[in-house]
Amino acid sequence: MKKTLTKLGLSISTGLLMLSISPASFAQQVDPAVQAVMDRSFREQGIAKLDRIKQDEFQALCSNEKFRTSAEGQKKAEALQKAALAEIKPPSDGKYLGDWKAGEKVAQSGRGATWSDTLKTVNGGGCYNCHQITKEEISYGTIGPSLLAYGKTRGNSEPILVYTWNRINNSKAYNACSNMPRMAHFNLLTEQQMKDVMALLLDPASPVNK
Ligand code: HEC
Repeated sequence: MKKTLTKLGLSISTGLLMLSISPASFAQQVDPAVQAVMDRSFREQGIAKLDRIKQDEFQALCSNEKFRTSAEGQKKAEALQKAALAEIKPPSDGKYLGDWKAGEKVAQSGRGATWSDTLKTVNGGGCYNCHQITKEEISYGTIGPSLLAYGKTRGNSEPILVYTWNRINNSKAYNACSNMPRMAHFNLLTEQQMKDVMALLLDPASPVNK
C-alpha cells in the first residue's frame, strides 16, 4: 500500500533510509536504488506533493554519516548553517513577543501539512511532540530538551530573544542536523504564531515560567 507523507515526519524517516550513502555519491544525493523504492512507495495527494521525498542539502548531508563527519562535511555544515541564519527575517515590526495563550494553542497543536489538509489549514507547531513545556502537560516528547522555565532561567535580553526567534524560524541555522522542523523555512507557522510561541517561552506571566 502506498503511503503519503507529513512534512514534519520526513526528515526523521528518511534519515534512517539514507545512512548507507558513501561520500563519493554525495553529489547525486540519494542512492538510485533507494530513490526507486521511495518513488514506488509514495504517491502525491492533495497538498502533499512528491517533492517531500526529495532531500534538500541539509537532509542529504545529515543522512550521509561518513560525509557528515568528515572535515569536508563539517565545512559544508557550517556553510549551510550560515546560509540558513542569513535567510531568517526578524519580526517585521521589531516585536518578538506575542500572546502566550495563543502560543500555547500553537505549541499543543500538531495539525496541518498532511494530505487531508489544505493550504488554508491553520498549522500547529507540535512543540509538545518533542519538548516538555509546562508542568500541566502530562504527556510530551523528549526528542528535544525540556523548555520548562525557559524564560525564567534565561531572561529575555536581546540576544536571548534573537536566539530563540532564530531557533523557532530555522533550528538548522545552529545545528545543520537538528531534528527540529524549520517552522519559517517551510512556512509551517506564520510570523504571528511564532511570536505567540516566543511569548509562551519568554513571557514571565506564561505557565512555562511559573
Ligand atoms: C520533531 C521534534 C521537534 C519539534 C516538533 C520542535 N522541536 Fe524544538 N528542538 C528539537 C530538538 C531536537 C532541539 C535540540 C537542538 C537541536 O536540535 O540542535 C530543539 C531545540 C529547541 C530550542 C532551543 C533550546 C535551547 O535550550 O537552546 C527551542 C527554543 C525550541 N526547540 C523551541 C521549539 C518550539 C517553540 C517548537 C514548536 C513551535 C518546537 N521547538 C518544536 C526538536 C523539536
